[in-house]
Amino acid sequence: MKPFRKQREKVIPYASGRVLEIGIGSGLNFNYYNKPNISEVFAVEPDSVLLKKAKKNAEFNDIKLNIYQIKAEELPFDDRSFDTVISTYTMCSIPGLGKAMSEINRVMKPDAKFLFSEHGKSPDAGIVRWQKRLNAVQKRIAGGCHLDVDIPSEIINADFRLDQIESMYVPGPKFLSFHYWGSASPLK
Ligand SMILES: C[S@@+](CC[C@H](N)C(=O)[O-])C[C@H]1O[C@@H](n2cnc3c(N)ncnc32)[C@H](O)[C@@H]1O
Repeated sequence: MKPFRKQREKVIPYASGRVLEIGIGSGLNFNYYNKPNISEVFAVEPDSVLLKKAKKNAEFNDIKLNIYQIKAEELPFDDRSFDTVISTYTMCSIPGLGKAMSEINRVMKPDAKFLFSEHGKSPDAGIVRWQKRLNAVQKRIAGGCHLDVDIPSEIINADFRLDQIESMYVPGPKFLSFHYWGSASPLK
């Protein structure tokens, strides 16, 4: 998973202040935090097994983690309360992605950053056809993951401005390896 590690390295060091991770999984981003810039870390993760792993990983990395076993579609946080929200490889797995993105926007301070690294819809029509064909299998074997999420549109449609976005195929099967990463600001 070296390409994924490289992608994390490109966005996570920019997290600062009061940070919220969406669908944190086992906490693979902790290694890339620039800790002196971070004041508090919150996370949501619906899966109890992954949540336990994230807690252990946080302890191992000497991070005080405030983690909630809930989904991103309804965040129990105040409006305008985070400086950074992180989503890495999570947007593909959230069933109510539009709702989750508007919740993320709601909890962000006006000058906050949404940092993301996600795989998503390929720019090649032939690959998109494969992504659509393989969605049903991928959903079953990979925790609800959709292969053809249009990441930039999902972000823009939730009232964000894309400040920085890059995209490319990273090494791996093409249907799974078209990546989008960067940062976005809430329009408020
Ligand atoms: C591929 S994993 C990525 C985990 C982690 N963000 C990472 O970078 O390794 C997708 C994650 O999304 C989580 N997830 C699924 N549905 C979700 C939802 N509705 N709200 C928040 N997280 C969700 C899964 O439990 C899983 O941890």
